[in-house]
Formats: sequence, structure tokens, C-alpha cells
Amino acid sequence: MEKLREIKNGELYYNGFSLKKLAEEYGTPLKITFLDVISEHINSLKRSFNNAISSIGYKGKFIYLNANKANYGKEEIETAFLAGDGLETSSYYDLLLTQKMFEKNPDHRSKLIVSNGLKLKDYCDEIVNAYNKGLDIIDIIDDLNEYEYLKSKNLPIKVGFRVHLSSLYEAEVPDDRFGLLKDEIDYILNDIKNTKLILTTIHYHQRGFDYVEDKFKENLLKAFNFYLYAKSICDSVDSFDIGGGMPLPISEDFDYDSFALSTLSYLKELCIKNNVSMPNIIGENGKFSQKDSTVNIYKVVGVKNTGEYPWHIVNGSLLIALPEMYALGEPIMVTPISNLDKPIKPVRLAGITCDCDDVFFDREKGYFELPDAETNYIGCIGTGSYQNSMNGKGGVHHCLLPEEKDVIIYTKDGKLESKVRHELQSIEDIYNIINFK
Ligand SMILES: Cc1ncc(COP(=O)(O)O)c(C=O)c1O
Repeated sequence: MEKLREIKNGELYYNGFSLKKLAEEYGTPLKITFLDVISEHINSLKRSFNNAISSIGYKGKFIYLNANKANYGKEEIETAFLAGDGLETSSYYDLLLTQKMFEKNPDHRSKLIVSNGLKLKDYCDEIVNAYNKGLDIIDIIDDLNEYEYLKSKNLPIKVGFRVHLSSLYEAEVPDDRFGLLKDEIDYILNDIKNTKLILTTIHYHQRGFDYVEDKFKENLLKAFNFYLYAKSICDSVDSFDIGGGMPLPISEDFDYDSFALSTLSYLKELCIKNNVSMPNIIGENGKFSQKDSTVNIYKVVGVKNTGEYPWHIVNGSLLIALPEMYALGEPIMVTPISNLDKPIKPVRLAGITCDCDDVFFDREKGYFELPDAETNYIGCIGTGSYQNSMNGKGGVHHCLLPEEKDVIIYTKDGKLESKVRHELQSIEDIYNIINFK
């Protein structure tokens, strides 16, 4: 996988672009999304798995799905849809949007939809609707009510089931509420032959995974035992869905070729040992598809000397921009993007909201290393997944701060193009949302 970050002449380049130049060209606060990064990541992971498939003679396909929940930008989902093999949905509304995406791109109509999440009647009915339209959809059953409801439709809809995680790695995901318990799985495996439903897929989801090979394989094995078990009862089972949680960070030196090879070799070995056919591997990648595509850029616009280190205030809010970091402790790189050849001064960063928590610095060092220069820009690198889903798009934010100007850069017919998707949010936009006229 290509390196995305590079420092040249004291400036941070991302995906080949000087971030400082982009900041100067479009102004700040700015959110810039490189759509090509999405397709490149997808193509590159598919290549790694497909190479591994041919090199070891693995008898199944690798199926790349974009997990829409990571970013509901139209262009982001469309780019991932066109590059990948289908879309994963997590709610009724997500399935409506997904079907729209399929309608907009009829040449890709044969791609796969996999539907996850707890499903009430509206979501189940929409799955039936998608099936009736001839779309290739697999419903991943998350509870028995859903199973009974779908069964009552008397249609040969493809289904899978999600394995409840506490039967896998308890300590890591203590609050996981998804999936089926062993006795529920037993019930479905015994009952499904009396229905029209077709069981094809065993699913587990590895949440926010920091890749450690032994741990990954241990979890994989526990989940894969359910594939072996289901396959021994239902021969229609042909796919093992490993959910999201693809190893990150994707722009660093992780070797995806070796990862794909070792994962598939391991699964092949288990299948041979247990005398069952090798499943297709489905990946539902949200972060992997989207995270690296976006960078937020702010300018340092003020200084306050009320602390041990001077507070350097940026013209936006880090708290709003990086909800995953503030709420869940997910690391996101926050870094100066210019003057990187200048000496460093220790400061602390703060957003321009009134919130005391809207601050950023290295917690171990106690400060943030800012170049000693007149004008400084700060980049938040890798904001493409979950930040929008968590802080909302087109919303009303803390202190009524406007949303960043939103720009996309992409290749079309071999030519680089850019588009301002949204100007900096105006006070009129905000009045409209809150009906303040
Ligand atoms: C069922 C399922 N699949 C896929 C994903 C996407 O995970 P990630 O963004 O780690 O790739 C999630 C995330 O919550 C999920 O719940």
C-alpha cells in the first residue's frame, strides 16, 4: 500500500498534495476528502486477498463490502461501492439509501448487500422488498424474532447469523449485545430445513481491532468453529463473514499481503483438517475504506497565556471534529502541516468553543509541539470514518461553530478534479435547521 504522508520542504504532503497549499487555496476551517484514497485502499486489499487466493489455491472468493455506517457521504459510499463488491447496511434507513445507490448505478446491480443490526418489522420488510426487486441480499440474523418473521414470508431469502461475541472474546467486548447465543444457533440450524430460507453465511465482527496475529487467529478460530459446525448441518453455508475491524493504521507499514496470506492459509488448513469446503470470505470494512480519505485543517488564530504552556487556539473545534477521539479514545493524528523544518515550541492546542475539554496535547509530554513560526496550520489526519456519523453533517454544533468548508478531490476520466461540496456553514444554514427565522 502506498504511503500517504510525506514531508517535503517543511510541509506535510498527503496523498501527493501539500496540505498547506490546500489550506491557502480553500481557506480554513477546511475538510478535504481524497476519494481516490478510498478506491486505492479497496483495490489494494482486494489485490492482497486475490493474490493469496491464487498462490495457495484457496477455493473461495474474497468479497469486499463497504460498511456504510463509517461515512454517509454520497461520494464516499459511491466510490466504495464502485470499487468494492457491495455494501453492508446497519439499519432500515441505511438499507433504503443502499438501494438508492444500486438504482443510481444499474451496471453494479448484481453486487451484494449484507444487512446487519437489530431488525424490527420495517427493516425486515425492506429486506424482503430488496429481495423481491431481485437484489442479491443476505440478512444476517441477529435475534430469533427476526428469524421467525422472515421465515413467515415463505421466500428463499439468503440469511446468515451473527455469533454473539461473548462466546468468543469476552474480556475485550464486555458490552457486546449483538448476535445469537449457542442455543439460538442450534434452534436455527435444526429448524431452517423446514423453511424456505437459505442459510449461507456465518458472521462475527471484530471491533476496533489492533492487529496482533495470535490474538486475531484465536478469535478467528473461535468464530470459525461456528462455520464448521453450521456447515456440518447445513450444506448451503458457503461464506464466512469476518465483519469490520480490518487492521489499522492503513497508511503505515502494515503488510496486507502477508496478512491475507496467513489468514487464508489458516482457514484453508482448518477446512482441510475438518473436511469441509473453503468458504468465501466477506469483509465489511468501514474504517479501512474511509478513515484515511479525509483530513481537517485549521489555522492557529489566537494565543492565551493562562496555562503552564501557552494555549494556541485554532479556528474550529477539535472536540467537534474528532468525536471518536474525545468520546472513545480512538487515536487520530493531530499535527502541524507546515514549518516542519523550524524549531519547535511547546504549546497546548485549543478549539475556539467555550468548552474546557476542547483541547489537545500529547498527554505523556504535557504539550503539543508547534513550529515556532508566525502562521501555523494544524491537520487532523484520518477523519474519514465515524467522525461525521457521530458529530452529524449539516447540524448545529457547539457554540454554533460553522461546519468546515467541505471539498472533495478525485480522479475522473484520468483527470484530477475538485469540487466544493459545501461552503463554510453560514448562520442562515444554522437558522434554517433550528427554525429560527
Ligand atoms: C456488523 C459490523 N460490520 C462492520 C463494521 C465496520 O467496522 P470497521 O469500521 O471497524 O471496519 C461494524 C462497525 O461497527 C459492524 O458493527
